Amino acid sequence: MTFTIAIDGPAAAGKGTLSRKVAEAYGFHHLDTGLTYRATAKALIDRGLPLDNEAVAADVARTLDLGGLDRNVLSAHEIGEAASKIAVMPSVRRALVEAQRAFAIREPGTVLDGRDIGTVVCPEAPVKLYVTASAEVRAKRRRDEINSAGGSADFDTILADIVRRDERDSGRSDSPLRRADDAHLLDTSEMSIEAAFSAAKAIIDAALKH
Ligand code: C5P
Repeated sequence: MTFTIAIDGPAAAGKGTLSRKVAEAYGFHHLDTGLTYRATAKALIDRGLPLDNEAVAADVARTLDLGGLDRNVLSAHEIGEAASKIAVMPSVRRALVEAQRAFAIREPGTVLDGRDIGTVVCPEAPVKLYVTASAEVRAKRRRDEINSAGGSADFDTILADIVRRDERDSGRSDSPLRRADDAHLLDTSEMSIEAAFSAAKAIIDAALKH
C-alpha cells in the first residue's frame, strides 16, 4: 500500500523546500498542489478568460495536465494572487482535488503539500505536518529569495501581500487553511531547513515503523 505524507501551511512557510527534501530522502513522488491552482489561473490568463467565472475556471481545471507543472513558469506574484482567487471556487477545488487524490495513491509513496491536504485531500494520510512561521519571518525569507535572484523587493509590500493571502486562504468557506487535529506542528520561525527536515524525518520514521 502506498504511504502518503501531507504537508500544509501558509504561503512562504518553507513547506515547498521541506516537501522536496522529504520526497527525495524517501524516494516518494512529490506534488506541490499550489501549482495546480497556479496552472489553472495561468491558463485562464493566457487564454484571456475571466478569473471570476466559476464554470469557465472549473472547465480549465478539469483539463489540467499534472505532468506539465513547472514552478519557474508559475512563480510570478500575479499568478499566485490569481490562484488564490480561483481557489475559493468549490467546483475548481473539486476538479483539482480529484486529480490530487489520483496522484496521492502512486507507489511506493507520495508527498503532497498545500493548504488542505491533511484536512480534505488526504485525511487518512499516516503523516501530517503543519509547517508555519510568523508572517514577518516568511516575508523576510521571500524578500531574501527575490533579492538573491537579482530582483529588488520591498519588505512592507511583501508582508502586506502575505497577510492578505493568509486571510483569503484561512477565511474562505470551502477548505480553509487550517491545521488538521492530528497534524504535527512545525514552527520554522527560528528553525533552519535542516532542523525542520530532521524533525520531519523523526515523525515519518516513527510512522513507517507502525
Ligand atoms: O502555495 P502557493 O502559493 O503556490 O499556492 C497558491 C494559492 O493556491 C494559495 O494562495 C491558495 O489560495 C491556493 N491553494 C489552495 N489549496 C492548496 C494549495 C494552494 O487553495 N492545496
